[in-house]
Amino acid sequence: TTTVTVSPAALGFAAVPKNRNDVVTVPAGYNVQVINRTGDPILPGVPAYKNDGTDTNFAGRIGDHHDALRWFGLNAAGNARDDASSTRGLIAQNHENINDMYLHVAGATSPGGVRPESEALKEIECHGLSVTEYSEGANRAWAFKQDSAYNRRITPSTPMALNGPVRGTDFVKTPHSTAGTAGRGTINNCANGYTPWGTLLTCEENWAGYFRRSGDNAARTTKELTALARYGVTSSTGNYGWSTVTPADASNTLFRRWDARATVGGSATTDWRNEPNQFGWVVEIDPYNAASTPRKRTAMGRMGHEGAWPGPFVAGRKPAFYMGDDAVNEYMYKFVSSTAWAAADATATDRLAIGDKYLDAGTLYVAVFNADGTGSWKPLVYGTAPLDASNAAYPFASQADVLVNTRLAADALGATPMDRPEWTAVNSVTGEVYLTLTNNGSRVTGADTPSASQRQTNAANPRVYVDAPSTSRGNRNGHVIRIRETGDNTEALGFTWDVFLFGAGSDLDATNINLSGLTADNDFSSPDGLFFGRPTNASGQVKPIVWLQTDDSAFTDQTNNQMLVAMPGSVGDGGTRTVTNTTAGGVTWTVVTRIGATPTAATLKRFLIGPVQCEITGIDTTPDGRTIFVGIQHPGEGGTAAAPSSHWPDSQATGTAGATVRPRSATVVITKVDGGVVGL
Ligand code: FEO
Ligand code: CA
Ligand code: CA
Ligand code: CA
Repeated sequence: TTTVTVSPAALGFAAVPKNRNDVVTVPAGYNVQVINRTGDPILPGVPAYKNDGTDTNFAGRIGDHHDALRWFGLNAAGNARDDASSTRGLIAQNHENINDMYLHVAGATSPGGVRPESEALKEIECHGLSVTEYSEGANRAWAFKQDSAYNRRITPSTPMALNGPVRGTDFVKTPHSTAGTAGRGTINNCANGYTPWGTLLTCEENWAGYFRRSGDNAARTTKELTALARYGVTSSTGNYGWSTVTPADASNTLFRRWDARATVGGSATTDWRNEPNQFGWVVEIDPYNAASTPRKRTAMGRMGHEGAWPGPFVAGRKPAFYMGDDAVNEYMYKFVSSTAWAAADATATDRLAIGDKYLDAGTLYVAVFNADGTGSWKPLVYGTAPLDASNAAYPFASQADVLVNTRLAADALGATPMDRPEWTAVNSVTGEVYLTLTNNGSRVTGADTPSASQRQTNAANPRVYVDAPSTSRGNRNGHVIRIRETGDNTEALGFTWDVFLFGAGSDLDATNINLSGLTADNDFSSPDGLFFGRPTNASGQVKPIVWLQTDDSAFTDQTNNQMLVAMPGSVGDGGTRTVTNTTAGGVTWTVVTRIGATPTAATLKRFLIGPVQCEITGIDTTPDGRTIFVGIQHPGEGGTAAAPSSHWPDSQATGTAGATVRPRSATVVITKVDGGVVGL
């Protein structure tokens, strides 16, 4: 039997000091290697990337804005799945968005005016995912295999199937699929999840802004307008103005489809009003089959999906997937399959058919966090008030209606509005579920009168304050909450919770803001990426440590974005704390919250700092824990083509590179010089 050690004795490295250098900094005794960058060719025959804005054919290159990633092992011959492999495998990673200023010769031109087809095509193809093969060679050097048969780009134009209760309903009928059973592509893929049958779950987050939609109110029903407003499908241009393209091939629908106005279609082949309903889903992808068609799993709900991380798979028990909806004051969800887990399914070869079995039917729940440290899961099931036609705010007509309009259903159930739910992660030993709450500028005290978009504090989201130099109020630095299911059962309808860590600068008020007592060696702001290392070390011990990545703009006066490591502890290992918030007018308001044990220098440490203006997002380890892969997203996001504000990764060796060298998102490999498990 395996020795179970809930935490390692110590985190085995010296904390990295905060810095604003244009490099990835790791602790002494570790190495960093860049293994892929935006634009790197991944298919045979695609030319090398010049990185001067002239490059084309992004459907054959690594995309932009590296986000969540996942390692999928291959056997030594490189021709079959091998979950145990730590030396050869695939990385499936999300390309969430683009730094369009670095994609074109003269910089960004969006969204004004009519977009050139060549630019819009490049921008579209930089989104989506990549699946690419890597192997470890001599001296722990990792190599990319450009001619791998597994290499693949999935873009916003790739054919997709729609599965689950929304398949075939009127909500999703578009010119791409008049039967409502299919569609094209995936976009703004942020965090992810996995299944034990060897597939990836990729999650569509900020898809709403890509559509042009305003000005068609008169042609929409009241019910449609309620739904469009709730999801923010309201732009007058779409993020990059793609629908303005007049394609050389008049039959090419892949630009026009981003205009969802109900007033401009005119026929079944030109009416894209339902196109936004094709997005906001969890998408299952089989990385071991480059010819497979991804399946959108509509039973898991439609929202600004951040991630979809599974709880423990226990034979005979229905598995659960934990999900955040990342927007201010949105909710935490879980999907519980209607099918109990059968371990033999882990090795089936028709992996997406196994996905059909577990992910196309089940119950979606939304979380309510109570002030006493308990919580409950409310089912989003059509047919009983308030999820039926009697609902005055939004009359529901079917389960598909509930799923397409998950946010409206959750509103009706009294879900707890959270401080922007980002990644979920699960402690492989205890089954406890962690959720990052990155920050919330629309949180106000209980003594404030909230605007329509604001919500007052609650026990699980207790802080409102100002963090200079900004003068804005809210939860400026975010926190990490964790829950323990009743009976440690993924099917539970109740849980207990506490706040694992509150983000804060170590210089901030220790009584009401820096509640976790962070120091200069472990202070952080805006937690986002969150991951428990694959659990078993070289000696067979399970030692989960939790990796925490930041996407911050409130702490950049002190440091670039960062990654920390923590020992996880357990729900209830701390106590209660009374937080006193103050309104802009000086009125005080107190909230009692639940907080975990105070971290120490031995249990929470800064491991990595990224380059200038990047976000750290995306992490996985090989099964042996000796190699970790980390995503570096949008370095230099505040610069221009003429004056890039970062030159990374070209700057990695020395901290500088030529003044006109454009930055690129990239994936790095981090290994320990002594060959040991990273972090321990
Ligand atoms: Fe794409 Fe919520 O981060
Ligand atoms: Ca994120
Ligand atoms: Ca974020
Ligand atoms: Ca981002």
